[in-house]
Amino acid sequence: MAKIACFVEKYNFLDPTEAEALQKFKQTAEGMGHGFDFLFKQDISEIPKYDAVFIRATTDPLYTSYVVSKTAWELGIKVVDDPKSIQICGNKIHLYSLFEKHNIPRIPTIFLAKDDFHHKQISEVFDAFGRPVVLKAPYTSFSKYVERVACETSFRNVARRFFRRSDVLVVQKFMPTSFDWRVGVLNGEILYVCKYTMRKGKWKHGAKLRGKSKFIWGRSISLKREHVPTRFKTVALNACKIVGDGLYGVDIKEINGDYVVVEVNDNPSIYAGYEDLRDRDLYAKIITYLIN
Ligand SMILES: Nc1ncnc2c1ncn2[C@@H]1O[C@H](COP(=O)(O)OP(=O)(O)O)[C@@H](O)[C@H]1O
Ligand SMILES: [Mg+2]
Repeated sequence: MAKIACFVEKYNFLDPTEAEALQKFKQTAEGMGHGFDFLFKQDISEIPKYDAVFIRATTDPLYTSYVVSKTAWELGIKVVDDPKSIQICGNKIHLYSLFEKHNIPRIPTIFLAKDDFHHKQISEVFDAFGRPVVLKAPYTSFSKYVERVACETSFRNVARRFFRRSDVLVVQKFMPTSFDWRVGVLNGEILYVCKYTMRKGKWKHGAKLRGKSKFIWGRSISLKREHVPTRFKTVALNACKIVGDGLYGVDIKEINGDYVVVEVNDNPSIYAGYEDLRDRDLYAKIITYLIN
């Protein structure tokens, strides 16, 4: 019997479907004869008592979840997400450099440094990618620092704001689709497949309502993992392989029958009735991976 620690924060229990998924992880582990405890910030000194750590709190190299990951890793305890995956997935420059190196089909992308940000650069970007283009700060998540700009003035305004967060920005060709494929991958295998749809008139899966700070999300539609084409699986698995062999959610756009990777996320959302809808075994697969 193994003892698994699941690192969470209070917000993980606010959405009832996320709370239910967390309970399913616990029930599944216990059903398999293992211990499964929720660990909060104040409990992290207990990590050495466990055989495996599963992080469900949002990961970021600056958050407690990273300390948890690094601590477990250094103690030789199996950990999802591992520190390297958190670092790579948390930085779009790092991630896209790896995509480039390993020839992963991806959205046409350039990196823009603060030092060579001037009129000529902006015109060259518009010439290469057309209008609008998408600007991203490298450390974004939940679509927070991802914006579309169509003219030099808005380009400068958004870039100025994002340059406060990083000296290098990501600039991409705008490739709108009505949904993003979201593929859950574990240890080099497909775990689940969803479509995350955009709300009407929106181009991002998550969007803020005018004047509100709360994010609203498009619908999510699940498909059975064996029903997706082989070429699609290959793109998804290759993109994750360059990051590691842990648990990932890879976002893919389908454009004219081609698949291009938007990003690989560590710590993918798992909500009951959504990601698990067609592939109910994902809980058992993750628990089995943790204890092996
Ligand atoms: N170049 C692009 N063209 C069109 N849509 C994009 C582009 N890049 C990202 N998006 C959309 O914006 C959303 C957030 O982008 P993403 O790069 O995943 O940032 P985050 O890490 O903040 O989630 C996703 O729904 C994605 O489909
Ligand atoms: Mg994303």
